[in-house]
Amino acid sequence: MAEVKIAPSILAADFGRLAEEIRDIDQAGCDWIHLDVMDGHFVPNLSFGPPVIRAVREVSSKTFDAHLMVANPDRLLETYKDAGADIITVHAEVSDHLERTLSHIRDLGCRAGVSLNPQTPEECLRYVLDRLDLVLVMSVNPGFGGQSFIPTMVDKISRIREMLDGRDVDIEVDGGITPVTAPAVVAAGATALVAGSAVFKGGSVASYKQNIEALRDSVRGL
Ligand code: DX5
Ligand code: ZN
Repeated sequence: MAEVKIAPSILAADFGRLAEEIRDIDQAGCDWIHLDVMDGHFVPNLSFGPPVIRAVREVSSKTFDAHLMVANPDRLLETYKDAGADIITVHAEVSDHLERTLSHIRDLGCRAGVSLNPQTPEECLRYVLDRLDLVLVMSVNPGFGGQSFIPTMVDKISRIREMLDGRDVDIEVDGGITPVTAPAVVAAGATALVAGSAVFKGGSVASYKQNIEALRDSVRGL
């Protein structure tokens, strides 16, 4: 199996030094940069949007993985692409025309992702399996970093992997991922791990590197 991708969530970064923090996780060897966009409506919290993504785009050439926790993702898809997103993930709960949204994301030249809140059944993916590049399984209720992993998400990941039936689609898991929780989700079929608090500990490139390596070590050979 290809190596599991590590995607630090910049929600846990020091926003006062955001460009520097992104440079640091890039140097520390992450694979993707996970961008948690929150609108204060779909989720209670507010974070940042396209202008901030655009402002930090030049800092790293790694894959920009935009997780849109917004009620109306369709309105700004092109703007996210122009700002520098490589992967655009929308939430199934707010997409009335998911097939159209995913096709639109691919037409823009981005990879198309769907995210599911913990209580959302995976069955909603069944008729869009050929429009997908990534499924983002929320293993906490979205809105905040630093929450505890919900263990029942492991079975959900296995069921999604089975439903994908050999398709080359990433399953990314988001929320409460640490070297303790990562092995079970990777064994179940996850290929990308989002981690906020577990990566942004220590405040230096050396500690970020250690944190990323600890995650990689915990899933090696699974
Ligand atoms: C939650 C966000 C996550 C969050 C993860 O709404 O989607 O990406 O930042 O943070 P940790 O790894 O601290 O649970
Ligand atoms: Zn996220």
